[in-house]
Amino acid sequence: MTEALIELRGVRAAYPGRGEPVLDGCDFVFSEGDKIGLLGPNGSGKTTLLHVMMGLLAPACGEVLFMGRRVATEKEFRQVRLQVGMLLQNADDQLFFPTVLDDVAFGPLNQGLSPSRARDAAVQTLESLGLAGFENRLTHRLSGGEKKLVSLAAVLVMQPRALLLDEPTNGLDPETRERLVGILAGLDRSSLIISHDWDFLACAARSFRSIRHGHVHVEPPAIVHAHYHRHPLGGEAHDHGDPVARSGVND
Ligand SMILES: Nc1ncnc2c1ncn2[C@@H]1O[C@H](COP(=O)(O)OP(=O)(O)OP(=O)(O)O)[C@@H](O)[C@H]1O
Ligand SMILES: [Mg+2]
Repeated sequence: MTEALIELRGVRAAYPGRGEPVLDGCDFVFSEGDKIGLLGPNGSGKTTLLHVMMGLLAPACGEVLFMGRRVATEKEFRQVRLQVGMLLQNADDQLFFPTVLDDVAFGPLNQGLSPSRARDAAVQTLESLGLAGFENRLTHRLSGGEKKLVSLAAVLVMQPRALLLDEPTNGLDPETRERLVGILAGLDRSSLIISHDWDFLACAARSFRSIRHGHVHVEPPAIVHAHYHRHPLGGEAHDHGDPVARSGVND
């Protein structure tokens, strides 16, 4: 039987002044081995769901369980955050040190690694994401896509057993987005991915959920199909390959 990593039971989450709660009696299970794509219109509560799962927002009612145990206090959620990595929707909320190296080494230092081992881990992770040589770059001067990738490095360097990714492809060019599909496919890590990029989700996720009216709904599996399209390479012969075969995740 697959083990539930994080479970929400009857969660109600609301923000002051918003009126209707965003999540209203919401049940959701994220299990070991899952690769879930989470869809939903703007403002439907996707980010809110992730924040509740990580203890960044306390539910008004209901409970959060981590590996079968109720978690409620900051101390309890700190244990969750050591094992589950979250990529925030806005990279500027994730990066707070002057240099890329400081940002990426912060997690491993926090996990108790020595400064030199934390540095090595950071350098290695940056390299694996195609960011070799970025160590001394100033974080606030990076482009939007670069910030997104550095944020991802800051998450992956901690080798979390599971990943919650909030719009990881937002602002990435097609080539970098493609690289990200490959990286996620190669990670073999339980993951919950929010995205409005359906093509990306079809490659990166194996099952799908959506949020509507404060509840999580199970969506049917993705069906890969061809369609007419246009893009700047349209006039030249080119090959898109088979994204599913390439990523190897939808078998
Ligand atoms: N801190 C906050 N204070 C007040 N309202 C908030 C706050 N954060 C989110 N909301 C509101 O809660 C609702 C759900 O927001 P949430 O960010 O979870 O949506 P989302 O599904 O992630 O949307 P998007 O696709 O645009 O990222 C929205 O109506 C939003 O305006
Ligand atoms: Mg969001």
